Amino acid sequence: MSLTAFRAELLSVPEDPSRGGEAAIRHHADGLLVVENGLVVAFGEHADLAPRFAEVPVETLPGLIVPGFVDTHIHYPQTDRIAAYGNQLLEWLEHHIFPAEAAFADRGHADRVAAFFLDELLRNGTTSALVFATVHAQSVDALFEAALARDMRIVSGKVLMDLGPESLHDSVESGRAGTEALIARWRGRGRLGYAVTPRFALTSSDAQLASAGDLLAAHPDALMHTHLSENRAEIAAVAARFPSARDYLDVYDRFGLVGPRSVFAHCIHLDDRALARMGTAGASIAFCPTSNLFLGSGLFDLARADAHGVKIGIGTDVGAGTSFSMLATLGEAYKIGQMRGVSLDPFRALHLATAGGARTLGLADRIGGLQPGQEADFVLLDCAATPLLARRTAGATLVDRLFALQILGDDRAISRTYVAGRCAWSRP
Ligand code: GUN
Ligand code: ZN
Repeated sequence: MSLTAFRAELLSVPEDPSRGGEAAIRHHADGLLVVENGLVVAFGEHADLAPRFAEVPVETLPGLIVPGFVDTHIHYPQTDRIAAYGNQLLEWLEHHIFPAEAAFADRGHADRVAAFFLDELLRNGTTSALVFATVHAQSVDALFEAALARDMRIVSGKVLMDLGPESLHDSVESGRAGTEALIARWRGRGRLGYAVTPRFALTSSDAQLASAGDLLAAHPDALMHTHLSENRAEIAAVAARFPSARDYLDVYDRFGLVGPRSVFAHCIHLDDRALARMGTAGASIAFCPTSNLFLGSGLFDLARADAHGVKIGIGTDVGAGTSFSMLATLGEAYKIGQMRGVSLDPFRALHLATAGGARTLGLADRIGGLQPGQEADFVLLDCAATPLLARRTAGATLVDRLFALQILGDDRAISRTYVAGRCAWSRP
């Protein structure tokens, strides 16, 4: 691909404004984004850059360009079970989720859901995600093949769950062998990455948790992805099974699963000891607000996680989450903050949904900030996507428009999604 340029309003928040202040915010009311071979060459003021790129064809785009969203926790096999009525976590898994995941033994089914799922991510402006598959290795093949075809940055892995239900479990040996085979098959292909994925402490034996720790140590380019401290009944069951562990995090720690490549979804009910340990270890939290509200799990304490310096990303956690939209998810994150007496700043919200998420996935050098040299994944936001948004944002300041998008916006506000400089979704 040769050089191309996009002229539009540009915004990116590569550093956390709660640490870096105003300097973290890169905004150009009349900006130019220059792309070559899928990478950002320049991001700045049109008037400054135009002379340098005078020969480059320019497409003028109506709207606000921001980095593509990074969803740090989502389950593709749960796509068809979103909005499942009536239960909290453990019963919801038994009644709705395990039966749905058992269907992924059929590769054709996995292929069809993976295609819909990735297209739905793109329709919502999400260009990168850390994704749960199922216990079946071929569920990962289906997702990775579909992601490769779309050139998306997807990190996933076969779920380890040797204590799972009859229809949906592996063994220590098949879990290890399946993981090794997938890593060998997919390493270095496209923009894919692997995550060693024990479902949670309750669905793996001690021997399988130890094996997951060994796999993580043996593959320095892999992440570790699991659930932690989501629901009170879950936490009580973990405490009953591991009476000598200091807390839920310590269960994972004992098996070598807590480190800078570890991403833990939820982390709602952790105390200061566990959060301090996560901060020291460089581990990350995927904050999943719509899921935490839908399952009645609890209110994540962002300020306390911040106080311990824990890396934070945002996850939709579909199918417990109720929207694929990271904008809608940020709206619920704001409301959870309000319940805890803290108002999430709109620039920080955008940071968490982009560069902050990239950092939790160890990808901050490649995505999330639209910095020169980074991959050109970006979204064109439409502040006038609905009559109400148009009315609310008319004449509004940048921060006010951003906040309105966060509270009122969803897939309707995504007019285009670009993956590695190529338009992958355009709203009809
Ligand atoms: N804990 C273990 N499995 C799951 C899951 O599929 N979804 C959620 N939200 N929590 C879990
Ligand atoms: Zn989850």
